[in-house]
Amino acid sequence: MFQNIKNVNYLNLIKHDFSLELFIHSNNVASIAIKMADEMELSVREKEMLYEEALYHDIGKSKIPETILYKNCRLSPDEWGIMKQHSIYSQELYLSVAANNDNSIEKAKIIRYHHENWDGTGYPDKIAGEDIPLHSRIIRIADIFDAITQRRIYRTYCIDNPLKLMEEMEGKAIDSYIFRKNYYLFKRLLANQ
Ligand SMILES: [Fe+2]
Ligand SMILES: [Fe+2]
Repeated sequence: MFQNIKNVNYLNLIKHDFSLELFIHSNNVASIAIKMADEMELSVREKEMLYEEALYHDIGKSKIPETILYKNCRLSPDEWGIMKQHSIYSQELYLSVAANNDNSIEKAKIIRYHHENWDGTGYPDKIAGEDIPLHSRIIRIADIFDAITQRRIYRTYCIDNPLKLMEEMEGKAIDSYIFRKNYYLFKRLLANQ
């Protein structure tokens, strides 16, 4: 269903000096977000938007120095400050390749908010609860699921119980309602890994 969108967007992603790891991560997050949208019975139009937003959510990381992006120990406060800029860069880069209309501005905002936490402790704007758009809250969860279930350059160990870890984030980093709606989806995805 999303084949055309995929082809166009992949070309745009490649134009932006994107590492293979980020490319795979973006694709994974988009695919998980669409599965979540299916569970939540979102409309086809919503799913098309969500797919594109998820695919672009980390495009701003192409502007972050690799020494920070792939540092395998704790980031200094200054480095962390630079890292946190990526969601704003993602918003800007998405707008630079998207059609110039209200719909793109809306999608760019969803991208900007993908690290906002349900309890207001996220970034860049520290918005909370339902002030965070639904799609951003879905991408937040899909992003965390991919981050803790895939092997990363900076994390070579496996997390034993990803669902338990996510349960601990309920009401803090993630929206508990969306997480519970998709709990069995995540169980199925883990069983198939
Ligand atoms: Fe991100
Ligand atoms: Fe991400």
